[in-house]
Amino acid sequence: MCGIVGYIGKQEAYPILINGLRKLEYRGYDSAGCALYSASGQLNIYKAKGKVADLDAVAQDKDISGTMGIAHTRWATHGAPSTINAHPHCCGTGRVTLVHNGIIENYATLREQLIQKGYEFQSETDTEVLVQLVAYTLEKTGTDIVNAVRLALNQVIGAYAICVIDREQPDILVCARKSSPMVIGVVPDNSEFFVASDASPIAQYTKDMVYIDDEQIAVCQRGSALRLLSLQGKEMEANVQQVDLDLSMLSKGGYPHFMLKEIFDQPQVLRDCMRGRLIADEKRVTLSAVEEHRDVLLRARRIVIVSCGTSWHAGLIGKQLIEKFCKIPVEVAYASEYRYSDTVIEPTDVVMAISQSGETADTMAAIEMAKEKGAFVYGIVNAVGSSIARASHAGTYIHVGPEIGVASTKAFTGQVTVLVMFALALGHLKGTISQSEYEDTIAELEIIPDKIQKTLQQNAKIESIASYFTYAHNFLYLGRGFNYPVALEGALKLKEISYIHAEGYPAAEMKHGPIALIDSEMPVVFLATHHQLYEKILSNMQEVISRKGRITAVVTEGDEQVKHLVDNYIEVPPTLMTLAPLLSVIPLQLLSYHVAVAKGLDVDQPRNLAKSVTVE
Ligand code: G6P
Repeated sequence: MCGIVGYIGKQEAYPILINGLRKLEYRGYDSAGCALYSASGQLNIYKAKGKVADLDAVAQDKDISGTMGIAHTRWATHGAPSTINAHPHCCGTGRVTLVHNGIIENYATLREQLIQKGYEFQSETDTEVLVQLVAYTLEKTGTDIVNAVRLALNQVIGAYAICVIDREQPDILVCARKSSPMVIGVVPDNSEFFVASDASPIAQYTKDMVYIDDEQIAVCQRGSALRLLSLQGKEMEANVQQVDLDLSMLSKGGYPHFMLKEIFDQPQVLRDCMRGRLIADEKRVTLSAVEEHRDVLLRARRIVIVSCGTSWHAGLIGKQLIEKFCKIPVEVAYASEYRYSDTVIEPTDVVMAISQSGETADTMAAIEMAKEKGAFVYGIVNAVGSSIARASHAGTYIHVGPEIGVASTKAFTGQVTVLVMFALALGHLKGTISQSEYEDTIAELEIIPDKIQKTLQQNAKIESIASYFTYAHNFLYLGRGFNYPVALEGALKLKEISYIHAEGYPAAEMKHGPIALIDSEMPVVFLATHHQLYEKILSNMQEVISRKGRITAVVTEGDEQVKHLVDNYIEVPPTLMTLAPLLSVIPLQLLSYHVAVAKGLDVDQPRNLAKSVTVE
């Protein structure tokens, strides 16, 4: 994870760097730092433990002049969060300075070799090994900084996105990446270059961006066109793309937290997600990737969904949708397990990767492995131009706009919406869904945003329910069928931001263990909407009631049975069973949000987590 920003040009660098770090803070926020060449040619480095605001407080009364600099916000891997471990890191002589996102896997060996050559280390980070290695290469070979970075990277095993500056060549910013994201904003006269881990810090300055590929080095030099080199030193062509970001998505828009804004954004962003794809008047769904790759998809004997976290929960819903509408067997795997498994991949398999960020290291590695074994890879991704989007053979963007809150909300409903459309489109092509079910689902999906809007009106009620639960140490979430993955997602949301232990279970499975935990202190959230297994859920509820568990239930509007049985209930509009997750997850998102706020916690940047997990 970690966020990187770099700038070289004609403007003052500090405001660009610090504002850029604020936009990347979702990537890590345990310490931050920046390095600037001052107007008088001096290299100034400032660091702080904590957030970007802490760095800004440290730097404000210092010399922050200069038109070139690099900056970093950290999510610790090697070495605890501290000022000394914060980036940028310098070599012993102070000549080379760099920021790094990723993990140098052979850092211990390299460190040992450098120590034997007389190099000393100040921090516990793997990054310091890299900067010393570049400095050693410069000294030993007498080459320039570009070549020294290239030669050093040839010795490195692991993942990196780096931005390097050399005191002896202050007109050059050198960047490189492997398995960690990096994008460079360029302008027509090459007078300035903007470097960042994603497009958000760059978008306000230029739309022209170059996504660096794995094992590429980029050289940013004022007045010269961007140069790209392979690790072997071969010059490569830069592919400039127009990246349009909706900048309003990067602000809280009057909401106290990004997470709340993103929950409330859902009706609108799901309309965006469906635009041009769900043609309700003509009663059809069209996904260009499904059309273009219909042969391979129609041939598919099995689909394996690989993903992590919330995206994995969306995958569990995708399985039910695809099996129901397309009659194709689907497996859902944690990407981190799948990548190291001896899984058998047949030529008729399709591997579907689901990822909000498009940068999750395990998901990326899983699809690389699947590609090597000959599978066709279909990506369902939010971040346009991200690594997973580019590595997939085909795919569908969810188009819900940048998600900033660490706990995923609108990306989840966006993923589920795309999965519904995928299953409808493919099922229709295959003839495995009846025309009436196809049309009914399309009609209902079209009005789901309005129903989410209506569900959001329960916000105040949910806030008052949440206030009862700040005391809780455990929570159980129970659901069945399409609502079972929603139970998992509700539990994950609560854990992530309120630090309350929560487990999601298939409701009937409760009696095989979790029931032992139920007493009058145990809050249990039931997903009890009017669908296929409603009566069964009522029986499961009775089992909790007889043990004095405290029930909060999500029910369908007008439900008269559950209301009388439970402590609290939250109503959602009626919908089809297959679309139930899109409504029942909304109260759970709000519940976890309000519990965390009531506990006074940092909702958007919960402890220990990061939004984009680019390490395995
Ligand atoms: C992190 C985030 C989660 C996310 C997961 C997978 O853990 O905090 O919100 O679900 O990564 O990320 P992806 O970007 O691949 O969906």
